[in-house]
Amino acid sequence: MRTVLSVGSALLVLLAGNKAMANEQAKLAAKGKALFVVCQACHTTTDRASIKIGPSLQGIVGRDAGSLTTFSYSTALSEAAFSWDEASLDKWLQSPATLVPGNIMSFAGLSDEGQRKAIIAYLKTL
Ligand code: HEC
Repeated sequence: MRTVLSVGSALLVLLAGNKAMANEQAKLAAKGKALFVVCQACHTTTDRASIKIGPSLQGIVGRDAGSLTTFSYSTALSEAAFSWDEASLDKWLQSPATLVPGNIMSFAGLSDEGQRKAIIAYLKTL
């Protein structure tokens, strides 16, 4: 009985922990959405086929770099052989030119790690 109880309370603690983490992620994503206004000038988020100056960012997390057929990427990005995850997005947002020299995204980069984290949390929701 005691084991059942302690397993039960361990589960409760775990569930509460998960909920707190989910809340943190949601807060971070909301902050990222607000920061995303600077990206919005060049990127759509709804329809993968719709492009502005840059490609749509819908479903970007997990996508291969430079892989949409609807967008004319630079040679540098279309030949890049990696996919977008938290680590590569963080490097890209810090300094696109360092991660993929010769890319054509006119964006100097964000030095604030917290801002990059928030934008990536938002990108995960797209
Ligand atoms: C001035 C326009 C501009 C702004 C501002 C801009 N981007 Fe881009 N972005 C581009 C272009 C153009 C490309 C394609 C680059 C290439 O082909 O070399 C691109 C590519 C990307 C890619 C790779 C897409 C893929 O399909 O591989 C990501 C991710 C990205 N941008 C994220 C962002 C985020 C997040 C922001 C805001 C912090 C941002 N961009 C701001 C123009 C912009």
